[in-house]
Amino acid sequence: MAAKSLEQIVSLCKRRGFIFPGSEIYGGLQGTFDYGPLGVELKNNLKRLWWRHNVYERDDMEGIETALLTNRYVLRYSGHEKGFTDPLIDNKTTKKRYRFDHLLKEQTNEVLDAVAAAFGIARPDDMDLFVDALLADTKKSQTALMAAKVIDAQDGKPGDWTEPRTFNLMFKTQVGPVADDESFAYLRPETAQGMFINFKNVLDSTNRKLPFGIAQQGKSFRNEITPRNFIFRVRELEQMEIEYFVRPEDAERIHDEWITDHVDWWVEEVGLSRENLKLFSHVKLAHYSRRTVDILYNFPTLGFDELEGIANRTDWDLGSHSRDQANLPLSANTAQMALKNEHSTEKLTYFDDAAKKHIVPFVVEPAAGVDRGVLAALCEAYDEELLPNGETRVVLRLKPALAPIKVAVLPLAKNKPDIVAYAKSVKRTLLASGEMRAVYDDSAAIGKLYRRQDEVGTPFCITVDYDTLGLGKDGDTSLKDTVTVRERDSMLQERVPVEDLLAYLRDRLK
Ligand code: GAP
Repeated sequence: MAAKSLEQIVSLCKRRGFIFPGSEIYGGLQGTFDYGPLGVELKNNLKRLWWRHNVYERDDMEGIETALLTNRYVLRYSGHEKGFTDPLIDNKTTKKRYRFDHLLKEQTNEVLDAVAAAFGIARPDDMDLFVDALLADTKKSQTALMAAKVIDAQDGKPGDWTEPRTFNLMFKTQVGPVADDESFAYLRPETAQGMFINFKNVLDSTNRKLPFGIAQQGKSFRNEITPRNFIFRVRELEQMEIEYFVRPEDAERIHDEWITDHVDWWVEEVGLSRENLKLFSHVKLAHYSRRTVDILYNFPTLGFDELEGIANRTDWDLGSHSRDQANLPLSANTAQMALKNEHSTEKLTYFDDAAKKHIVPFVVEPAAGVDRGVLAALCEAYDEELLPNGETRVVLRLKPALAPIKVAVLPLAKNKPDIVAYAKSVKRTLLASGEMRAVYDDSAAIGKLYRRQDEVGTPFCITVDYDTLGLGKDGDTSLKDTVTVRERDSMLQERVPVEDLLAYLRDRLK
């Protein structure tokens, strides 16, 4: 069973130290979150799994880490200065601000049909196309919204709406001590551009042949109009992105291969159930995309929403960041739509040995959100189990590879120095293997310690007791140097010799 509401996850995250609101003691900073002691482990484990699957286990990938501060020209020629916008709208009465498409999604079909009729169009099925149509004449849209009595969920009444308008989501920051119009840089809105502008550096330093890819994980910044739904939509986010460079004629096939591969990865390695995932093909495409397919996850409270987008970006990025574009073999869309580049010093091309000419590779881009991945993993793993004694056990059934703590070593009695010393030495031995995070905990009675570890997803608890010391009942020494191992999901317990413990756990933590 997965979580039923986002509230359950928010509460667990705060209670057990996974995720806290950013700048909390000063009233918070909307759209920012801090990852706590367990959250940082979970997030790092997710990123590690992704890196291993996408970089180490393939023979055609390189990793990279590029700067967050970005020269404005990178984001001018990428198209972000002009087009990286969201539509917003305000209710003059409630003073509430909405993302225009989100406001429309909350309306009934009757209201939406009335908006379209008042605007004078047939309503497109796709919401992005509908919003685009309405943005073509914002004054007329305002009149249509008022005539159709578009409701503000804040007070449940028809709003007194402003004209919808677009808003650029990029954060600017001053670079150097003197603030003037020219001395700013952008905080990158996606990790992708760092990989495109380093295409030549990576190609020349690794001698890669097509197809090959570059992977990157890291922070991006978006001044979201209405950050909400916990870590689902934040202003400071983390991404895991791949730019996979291919021959143009191979792009469609390779695009499909990445979609299949990544759906399988979310299921097999992250543990999301296949029924909670579905694909969505965008009808309205970004300026750079020939086809974009999103992997949606069925988040509690939110329903199906985007976890990862996988786009065929064509030659847009390499073409638009190149100098001397007129002399490059670009696709029609890029040749027509890309800004004439007056600042780049490079031609981002690839020399095709067989054809003896330069080509501009196409790019297939799987782009996932780390925060949304963490959220999906938590939602999927969350379970409330009714026990025979009538108590409810909260258990996080995380895949062992994702669990923040792999093993908790617990002494049966914390006031018995020999038991404590033995338990601490077991913990040290497990940790010394370098294979798992083990913790020692004696802060409560054993039953309570089990519950706490269940709630944070620890797959195994190990208890050291009198039997371990060879001090069993009636002088029984048969269990000397063995410990009780309790498995999280089944709660079954097994007696395991200490000398076999590492191998026992290694087998089960895979
Ligand atoms: N380079 C392409 C790109 O950035 P995107 O669909 O805008 O594509 C990729 O972002 C992923 O980043 C999304 O699928 C989502 O998981 C995550 N993401 C985007 N905006 C986000 C936000 N404001 N908060 C949290 N995650 C976000």
